[in-house]
Amino acid sequence: MKIAVLPGDGIGPEIVAEAVKVLHALDLRFEMEEAPVGGAAYEAAGHPLPEATLELAKEADAVLFGAVGDWKYDTLERRLRPEQAILGLRKELGLFANFRPAICYAELTHASSLKPELVAGLDILIIRELTGDIYFGQPRGRRESPDGAFRGAQEAFDTMRYSKPEIERIAHVAFQAARKRGKKVTSVDKANVLETFQFWKDVVTEVHAQYPDVELEHMYVDNAAMQLVKAPKKFDVIVTGNMFGDILSDEAAMLTGSIGMLPSASLNADNRGLYEPSHGSAPDIAGQGVANPLATILSAAMMLRFSLNQAEAADRIESAVKSVLAQGLRTADIYSEGTRKVGTRDMGDAVVAALRTQG
Ligand code: IPM
Ligand code: MN
Repeated sequence: MKIAVLPGDGIGPEIVAEAVKVLHALDLRFEMEEAPVGGAAYEAAGHPLPEATLELAKEADAVLFGAVGDWKYDTLERRLRPEQAILGLRKELGLFANFRPAICYAELTHASSLKPELVAGLDILIIRELTGDIYFGQPRGRRESPDGAFRGAQEAFDTMRYSKPEIERIAHVAFQAARKRGKKVTSVDKANVLETFQFWKDVVTEVHAQYPDVELEHMYVDNAAMQLVKAPKKFDVIVTGNMFGDILSDEAAMLTGSIGMLPSASLNADNRGLYEPSHGSAPDIAGQGVANPLATILSAAMMLRFSLNQAEAADRIESAVKSVLAQGLRTADIYSEGTRKVGTRDMGDAVVAALRTQG
């Protein structure tokens, strides 16, 4: 089993180191190879996604990814910005299906900004289409006014588009995931305004005919944003496009108390995948040893389950994480009175210790 390890920027290296430590504590043999990505790769090789890094990601069985981005790169031209690394990996590896679970752990119910009764036991799964939509649609750019009356660019444009096969394959992923859980899919669109999302709604409805055992509801994205904070437990699986999924998954993450707890998986058609925390590079706390490594450790568990066929090891990691929470250990983002505040490394060590004491 070969894992490409891409730590990236900001807190990326710190949290990935803890996930690697946890993987090494399992009785499994991995080959791990590390490569620079994002701003770190721009510094080292002049490009956020160097050819060698992309090649490594392509040949590996799975990619463990930290995070990319830093404000100091905001003035770089777009193709050199750290974010292009993750967008390029998604596109080049065909990682169209992004799983972002939002689970509220019993111990963290009070860390949520919502009332505990609204989030206790919350378990929703956002499935975000990841290689289409306005993120990748062409053409895009800036143009001058047609009559040349003004100097310089006078407008900018992006293209929102989805093809039928793109919608079909993500709809299948969502219905199949729902089958293994609460058997309900909410497809989020903006069909009342956008042609792309009327088409999305039509195609999802068509695919649904093959899943009579799963309930399908359609919801406009603005309403979905509202329902997520009003009654989040009414959702089971949410399936949506790239941009709405980007926004709603951050919102859903916060329901659980901290985005520092949430893993994600991005899969392609052969179930090969990239695994990364749902949060970003948090440059404001980078290098301080205070970041929460649990989202990355839980991403490693998803990697074992989805791409490496090691479901038992994945279960072990997930129960080790629950046990450190039950012991009262908390990084700053999930700290509350009466618990014990620990740093990034101590949290990783605690997960390793919990693994070792499992029966
Ligand atoms: C995410 C991030 C990325 C996205 C950025 C870093 C390009 O926000 O993974 O959600 O918008 O998809
Ligand atoms: Mn995002």
